[in-house]
Amino acid sequence: MTDRLSQLREDATHEMAHPSASVVGAISALGLQPGMHVLDIGCGTGAHLQLFENWVAPDGRVVGLDLEADEIAVAADLNAGPVARGTVMVREGDLRQLPFDDGSFDVAWMSAVLHHHDKPTHALTEMARVVKPGGMVAVLDGDSDGSFPCLPWPPEFEHTLRAASLGAQREQFGGTLPYFFNGYIGRQLPGLLSDAGLIGTRMRALTHVESSPLPPHAEAALCRWFLESFDQRVRDYLAPRDRDRLKSSFTPTSPDYLPAKTGFFVARTSFLATANVPQPSGR
Ligand SMILES: C[S@@+](CC[C@H](N)C(=O)[O-])C[C@H]1O[C@@H](n2cnc3c(N)ncnc32)[C@H](O)[C@@H]1O
Repeated sequence: MTDRLSQLREDATHEMAHPSASVVGAISALGLQPGMHVLDIGCGTGAHLQLFENWVAPDGRVVGLDLEADEIAVAADLNAGPVARGTVMVREGDLRQLPFDDGSFDVAWMSAVLHHHDKPTHALTEMARVVKPGGMVAVLDGDSDGSFPCLPWPPEFEHTLRAASLGAQREQFGGTLPYFFNGYIGRQLPGLLSDAGLIGTRMRALTHVESSPLPPHAEAALCRWFLESFDQRVRDYLAPRDRDRLKSSFTPTSPDYLPAKTGFFVARTSFLATANVPQPSGR
């Protein structure tokens, strides 16, 4: 197995065993009922599919769709039992052109995906197309650079990092990122859902808090996020001394390693935006 596949499998196994409170809370807030058909768009390694299955089984069905073959392979493997029972299905596909008929689902869900799309209204319109009239579109996403993990670090350093990420975002990272990234998608969700023709939008904020000592897997994932994803976005917008400070804050061998400090915690806020597909007029 390649390094990437093993890392995907390890992360997914951990997420299935310890799903974040935000994801569990958001799925619980959807009002799912036995028998419903649910689509998880950009399901990644399928770590959340059984959370939906718990609500809709035994007669309902959950379909996980992702663009990446590796993610779908891991999802199929980790959900082998429900796939065999017929309550979960996984398949490759592109959210920009969903391989489903109009009105196939009661609920379409998308978590941590929309911030990668430069045409979010198009993505939401396509999502709404495959939901029945009266059914629900649900999007969970972080306003990630607007409310990135809250950590007990000096406020002035946090402001330095926020300023760098805003500058980088404005210039779409100087064109250096291999993907599109919108760090402020959360606050835009109600407007985007309305632009996609959806009605009755509701917003909820869900916060997941982890206190030290973090489980080793969570600590490693947090460090990877700051040293890889976040650093990649802001590195050209930080003074060298601030970049060094970011690095040392998440390098376990450094005396400045933040997760080892007394009273360390992480708080991440996600937004859940839900809205309904209108009934045809006159009904
Ligand atoms: C950050 S992961 C989120 C995974 C999962 N939904 C979660 O909440 O943990 C984003 C996922 O979106 C998928 N994705 C991105 N663009 C896509 C597209 N156009 N169609 C389908 N999936 C896409 C990626 O392959 C990746 O697995």
